[in-house]
Amino acid sequence: MEKPPRPDLIDFHGISMIHYFTDNWENIQNFQARPDDILIVTYPKAGTTWVSYILDLLYFSQTAPERQTSIPIYERVPFLEISIPVMPPGTELANNLSTSPRLIKTHLPIQFVPKSFWEQNCRIVYVARNAKDNAVSYFHFDRMNMAQPEPGDWNSFLQRFMEGKMVFGPWYDHVTGWWEKKQSHSKLLYLFFEDMVEDTGRELDRLCSFLGISPSAEEKEKVKRGVQFDNMKKNNMTNYSTIPVMDFKISPFMRKGKVGDWKNHFTVAQNEQFDEDYQKKMKNPTLRFRTEV
Ligand code: A3P
Repeated sequence: MEKPPRPDLIDFHGISMIHYFTDNWENIQNFQARPDDILIVTYPKAGTTWVSYILDLLYFSQTAPERQTSIPIYERVPFLEISIPVMPPGTELANNLSTSPRLIKTHLPIQFVPKSFWEQNCRIVYVARNAKDNAVSYFHFDRMNMAQPEPGDWNSFLQRFMEGKMVFGPWYDHVTGWWEKKQSHSKLLYLFFEDMVEDTGRELDRLCSFLGISPSAEEKEKVKRGVQFDNMKKNNMTNYSTIPVMDFKISPFMRKGKVGDWKNHFTVAQNEQFDEDYQKKMKNPTLRFRTEV
C-alpha cells in the first residue's frame, strides 16, 4: 500500500499547523469539558507522555489495574485535536472515556483552547522543557513520525524552530502564554521537565497536592518506579510501539529522556546564534529554564 505523503505546514490563524490537528476544528472548539476533567498541556516533546502516565497511574492503577496492560497511553489519555486515519478523532476518544476524572492531552497554544475548559474551571497541568532539548527531541520525532512534516537537516530544522515554523507554532510564545496565564489562574500547575528529571518524587508530591489527592508512600513509590524512563521504554503500553506512523528504526519514541542532550547537537555557532535570538524573544524575566541539571 502506498504511504500517504507527509503533511505540509499550513498557516492557521497565525500559527503553523498541519491538517491532522485542524481538520476536526469545529468539534475541538465545541468540546464539552466537565468540571473534573484534567487537561495536560505541553509544547510537543516536553514530556507529555511522561506526565500523562503519571496521572493515569495516580488515578487508576489501584482501581483499574487491567488498563495498564491492555490500553495504550494515547487511548487512556486522548489527544484532543488529533484526527488521523489510523484511529478515531481525539474528541471522540475523549467523549467516550468512561473514567472519572477524564485525562485529556493537548498541545494547543493558549489562545486555541476550547472555551469550556475555562468555563468549567478544569485543572490544567502544563509541562515545559528548555528550548534546546525540546528542539532536539522534536527534530528526532519529526524524522521518525511520518505524520509530521519532513524535518530536513538539523541546521535547517533549528532555523525553523527559531522562526516558530513548527507544528503548534513558536515554542517561545507557547511556554510564555501558559506561564502568564498561571499568574491569574490558580487551577494551572506549571511543571518543568528538568525538575522532573532532577527529582521525580518531589514533582510527584507537587502534583498530588495540586490535585488534592494523597496516595500512600507505597503507592507513590510504585508510580515513581513505573514512570522511570527505562520502564516506560520497555512498556508497550507507554512506548508508542503500537502506533503505525512511527518508524523506530529511525529513532524510538522513548529516545533518551535526558537534560542536556542538546550539547550533542548544537555547534558552537548554532548555540551562540540561538542564545542571542532567545534573549530577544524571551522577555519575561520570571520564566527561567535550566539547560542542565
Ligand atoms: P527525548 O527525545 O529527549 O528522549 P512527549 O511525550 O511530549 O512527546 O515527549 C517526549 C520526550 O519525553 C522524549 O524526549 C522522551 O524520551 C521523554 N520522556 C518520556 N518519558 C520519559 C521519562 N519517563 N523520563 C524521562 N524522559 C521521558
